[in-house]
Amino acid sequence: MTDTNARILADYQPSDFAILSTELEFDLADQATRVVNKMHIERITDKAQPLILDGEQLKLISVQLNNIELSESQYQLNETSLTIDTEAQDFILTVITEIDPLNNTALEGLFKSGDAFCTQCEAEGFRRITYYLDRPDVMAKFTTKVIADKKQYPYLLSNGNKIAAGDLANGKHFVTWQDPFLKPCYLFALVAGDFDVLRSSYTTVSGREVALELFVDRGNLPKAEHAMTSLKKSMQWDEQTFGLEYDLDIYMIVAVDFFNMGAMENKGLNVFNSKFVLADQSSATDTDYFNVEAVIAHEYFHNWTGNRVTCRDWFQLSLKEGLTVFRDQQFSGDMHSAAVTRIQNVRVLRAQQFAEDAGPMAHPIRPEKVLEMNNFYTLTVYEKGAEVIRMIHTLLGQDKFRQGMDLYFQRFDGMAVTCDDFVDAMADGSGIDLSQFKRWYSQSGTPELIVKESFDKQQQLFTLTIAQVNKPSKQQTEKQDLLIPIKLELLSDNEKTQHLITLSDSQQKFEFSGYSVKPIVAFLSGFSAPVKVNFPQREQELALIMVKASDAFNRWDAGQQLLTRYIHALVQDADFTLPQDLVVAFKQILTLPGDAALKAEQLTLPSFDELVEQFEQIDPIKLLDALKQIRLFLAQGLASEFHQQFQRLSGRAYQNDGQSIGERALKNVCLAYLSHLSDYQSLTVNQYQNADNMTDTLAALHYQALTASARFSEQIKDFEQKWYQTPLVMDKCFMLQALFADESIFNKLAVLEQHPLFILKNPNRARSLIGAFSHNNPRYFHCLSGRGYRFLAKHVAALNDINPQVASRLITPLIQFKKFDSKRQAMMKTELVNLSQLSNLSRDLKEKLDAALG
Ligand code: PHE
Ligand code: ZN
Repeated sequence: MTDTNARILADYQPSDFAILSTELEFDLADQATRVVNKMHIERITDKAQPLILDGEQLKLISVQLNNIELSESQYQLNETSLTIDTEAQDFILTVITEIDPLNNTALEGLFKSGDAFCTQCEAEGFRRITYYLDRPDVMAKFTTKVIADKKQYPYLLSNGNKIAAGDLANGKHFVTWQDPFLKPCYLFALVAGDFDVLRSSYTTVSGREVALELFVDRGNLPKAEHAMTSLKKSMQWDEQTFGLEYDLDIYMIVAVDFFNMGAMENKGLNVFNSKFVLADQSSATDTDYFNVEAVIAHEYFHNWTGNRVTCRDWFQLSLKEGLTVFRDQQFSGDMHSAAVTRIQNVRVLRAQQFAEDAGPMAHPIRPEKVLEMNNFYTLTVYEKGAEVIRMIHTLLGQDKFRQGMDLYFQRFDGMAVTCDDFVDAMADGSGIDLSQFKRWYSQSGTPELIVKESFDKQQQLFTLTIAQVNKPSKQQTEKQDLLIPIKLELLSDNEKTQHLITLSDSQQKFEFSGYSVKPIVAFLSGFSAPVKVNFPQREQELALIMVKASDAFNRWDAGQQLLTRYIHALVQDADFTLPQDLVVAFKQILTLPGDAALKAEQLTLPSFDELVEQFEQIDPIKLLDALKQIRLFLAQGLASEFHQQFQRLSGRAYQNDGQSIGERALKNVCLAYLSHLSDYQSLTVNQYQNADNMTDTLAALHYQALTASARFSEQIKDFEQKWYQTPLVMDKCFMLQALFADESIFNKLAVLEQHPLFILKNPNRARSLIGAFSHNNPRYFHCLSGRGYRFLAKHVAALNDINPQVASRLITPLIQFKKFDSKRQAMMKTELVNLSQLSNLSRDLKEKLDAALG
């Protein structure tokens, strides 16, 4: 099916008009907010085009051109635009609209989150506030006056600096904000509400004082400290690493409970999903702490990579997102263990991005065709986008990378630019040719490297032959060779040597001389490129890499490869005998000295999702059974070692330094294995009772859910009672129950859907039940009765009317049906076909269903 409404990258045209300034006035009311939008517009091309403003779901009250009201014959209005037929060159256009924030459940534009008003404009939400040139290359200076009831809404916030405030009649007040920087409307924000405020300040390298303000729901102040600390660390890191300083006198962050995404980088006024702000010992896990810091950093880093230099059009989204994810990953690596951070990033990429790139919605990091922009805030644009930046970093090295970045800001500060502009700046700034490298921006799919080795003893020559396979896909039937940086280490008895080679042809030979014995290759160190590797190394070699490689990713990955091989063998033949060597290798990891956090990663089996990616097609239950077998094998073979470690690391008072966090992770990995053995059932139950922090509490309940423990229902009840008033923890409560792994799950889900706190309108809550079940309870999601698929489809249908963006994200596991056996494919497709017949099918879902069924 071709869609005439789809937008195409190649069709880009600059705007015929510029908006020099935008003066907004909001008179806030739940169901009838009045928006006055006064724009100074200038025609910038000599074409005699009419002015076409974007607008959706708006009630137009009036239009004035140079202060003269236009009659209905002087403009045309339809569902998505307002057209003004004028030949004026330079004029003031004033548009008055009325909107209904209370009933805005899509959470785009102006909406209510609890008692507060709040906006979300990226990508194209501003057009739900007023008629505008809603495109990122139209940049204006904004002034915003906010009017609301003073009691209910003591804080009235927008971008930039506060320039006026005062009281008005009828108990109302107003505040006026001015943003001195040019910005596209997607970076506009407004918040009005009653909050507790955590205030602090930061002095920049050049000595400017910046006021930092964090707005949270009343009562949550103690949970805001970690976010504030994270913000200061981010500000300092960007000064030290990239020489980038903050540019306004104030930086505000508001935490809200109703939010489609993680957070939003609006200029000077970030809006955050409260999940990525609030944290304290009793309610947040170590992972939550890590994520709060990473998302705070991400949004802060956008101030330069996204706001000061923004995107020309939405096809260029990875210009800001790939780069900013790379920056936040580097930051996290510097704040914590670089190795463990890298491993966790690779896990996400392999499990989820590879799946996306193999599925019906596969797209290059710079997509070429978009129906609904919200569908392109993807793992590909973000995570693979970050990998592409990381490859540039690898090819250039830190110093030249910095030179390239400096040139990028020099050239493009204050502008809206393209991915090509970025790569050109990196190439010019470093003097390194990146022309072939640019193909990474236009080609979808995960490349596969086929590696063969040969050794000539006489010549003492070791040769690696590496081929790249870029499989044609439905979306791209012809693929080109990519430029792939490959880091590797050659291990021999007396030395280790590191190399960086670049593969640019479809097949190349790389020779290494001076070896009297064949060295062992630790391949793709640091995961230097987002590729799959097919390199049949011997098991003894992998075991050696596990202990000897200098690079932690290589050591971890060798272990994962070994495990993966045995899992594949078990899928082929459930009677396959697992070798005792595996237990020996794992025992070494567990007992030798080393970083606890890294050990925890090494002892963790590849996830179901990571494994699915390695098969063309798989019966999910067979795969889950294989995983279960190997898990039990290791649990039994190492029971006393796991128990010893568990004991050693238990019973310590909570601390949240890196060492303690790593040890807690290791302890909980031991507990995870032990929870599968009947002799150790009491451990999870006791840990729940004795825990003094959320990481341990959650781990205990999680493993009980996964093993369908008899004590689960009693302990989760207790948990629910304790946390009934705390939304973020109630999300965890729903999530844990969605993971319960036996037949009774469907009855449990039916009860949970009726729970008074299960609110489909709240995205976090919807994800915590529906997303958790369909993503993380694969045995029952893929149940042959089809009940799992029906459960997801039913809620996606309901969400289609409430919040299309959330519906469209949740549908992911259903559209990836091609990975599974034909029986399941048929059942999954049936659900997709049913969904495609929904009467009010949103653009978001339509685009995905067409791709999946087309
Ligand atoms: N730009 C946000 C980020 O990556 C994500 C986002 C997109 C938020 C669209 C809301 C809507 O930081
Ligand atoms: Zn971002």
